[in-house]
Amino acid sequence: MSGSSRRRFFLQIWQGLFGGAVAAAGASLLATCARPSASPSPRPGVAVDVSDLPGGSTKVAPAPGPDGAPILIVHQSAGGYHALSLQCTHEGCPVNATPLQGILTCPCHGSRFDLEGRVVQGPAEFPLGRYDSAYDAKHRRLLVRFLPQTI
Ligand code: FES
Repeated sequence: MSGSSRRRFFLQIWQGLFGGAVAAAGASLLATCARPSASPSPRPGVAVDVSDLPGGSTKVAPAPGPDGAPILIVHQSAGGYHALSLQCTHEGCPVNATPLQGILTCPCHGSRFDLEGRVVQGPAEFPLGRYDSAYDAKHRRLLVRFLPQTI
């Protein structure tokens, strides 16, 4: 990996992790000025109804992740779920949310990812971001937590 690619990669991680926090801090400061008793908290995650999601299929979560990109919920054929950020790790374009034969494609420069988020074809060098998630069987929903996770 070249030095500029490494810098770009770490910059994307930094922006993903702290960009939302900085925005939330700014919003919190503004809210505090407007209403001293208000105490907004950052969004910790999103709950996604997966009762209508058969194995081997995907759906987009109703709210984006902290990086601003849509979240793709994957119900694996063998069971289990995971949640991917659809922000391309090459230069940040939104990856197409509709997989074709199990492959997600970025329209900007053609990077391709499998449904685990792994790079199948560059120029992206790194997998899609993956969020920690847990299945809530009682309510048949996936709780996606905004903590980055590596695969
Ligand atoms: S931004 Fe996705 S391939 Fe370049």
